[in-house]
Amino acid sequence: MILDGKALSKKILEEIKIEVQKLDKKPHLAVILVGDDTASRIYVNNKKKTALNIGINSTVIELPEDTKEEVLIEHIKKLNNDDDITGILVQMPLPKHINKDNVVCAIDPKKDVDCFTPENVGKLALGMKPYFYPVTPQGILIMLDYYGIQIEGRHVVVIGRSNIVGKPMVQMLLQRNATVTICHSQTKNLDDIIKTADIIISAVGKKIVRCKMVKYKSVLVDVGISRDANGKLTGDLNFSDFKDINEILDFVEAFSPVPGGVGPMTIASLMLNTLLFEHTGILRRIAKSGLE
Ligand code: GUN
Repeated sequence: MILDGKALSKKILEEIKIEVQKLDKKPHLAVILVGDDTASRIYVNNKKKTALNIGINSTVIELPEDTKEEVLIEHIKKLNNDDDITGILVQMPLPKHINKDNVVCAIDPKKDVDCFTPENVGKLALGMKPYFYPVTPQGILIMLDYYGIQIEGRHVVVIGRSNIVGKPMVQMLLQRNATVTICHSQTKNLDDIIKTADIIISAVGKKIVRCKMVKYKSVLVDVGISRDANGKLTGDLNFSDFKDINEILDFVEAFSPVPGGVGPMTIASLMLNTLLFEHTGILRRIAKSGLE
């Protein structure tokens, strides 16, 4: 089975649009971009375009590369105090001279749509309800749930320990009663660990998972994005040992493609967070109606 994040995210965004139309006060997402990292600019433009398409207001604040930390924090405080702004996202990575921890701590947890602030991350770790769940892990779980992938009791190997994906993914999986192993750049015998996984979630940015080596009928979720030798967008999963897509589909329970898997789910998940209310109604409706 292919985990079609593109189709599922399209459906979620359509449903959000319907919900937003019913609201008197529209959600308003503020995105701060510091510097001119090309990839970050593309991500930010995507977020803005998606928000506008579904009726969510969006403001992008672009600051130059040499912006002082205090100036950035002033912008955040202004947004914290602006009642029209419902969500704040500071695009990462930040330039090296800025301490990202100070920046993250300045965001009002009630507007922290990324789940980056200590209050939200702490609540997540304690099994309490944060104001927002982290977007990429939330998007992955929505996708696994939609496709009926069982999580409880299964061994999930998460590769990558970033604050954005790996660490919060572990917390959310534990809450779903998975058995979780987290691997990273210093992990020894990664291939041996991978072989024991029922579900692999890889967020590295390198072709690190040789899929012929994984357990038969495991679930492979690809969060990695990099470019191959021909400049084509690609993920962490290496399928080069397989003859064709049919052989892959016979071997795995499911896998998420790059592009068209986790990437679009992350944006849909951010928009769900920006909508600011319980998402279960929307997700239940989609589970019933399917993607047509
Ligand atoms: N940079 C890469 N992914 C993300 C994300 O999910 N949120 C923010 N703020 N920055 C990112």
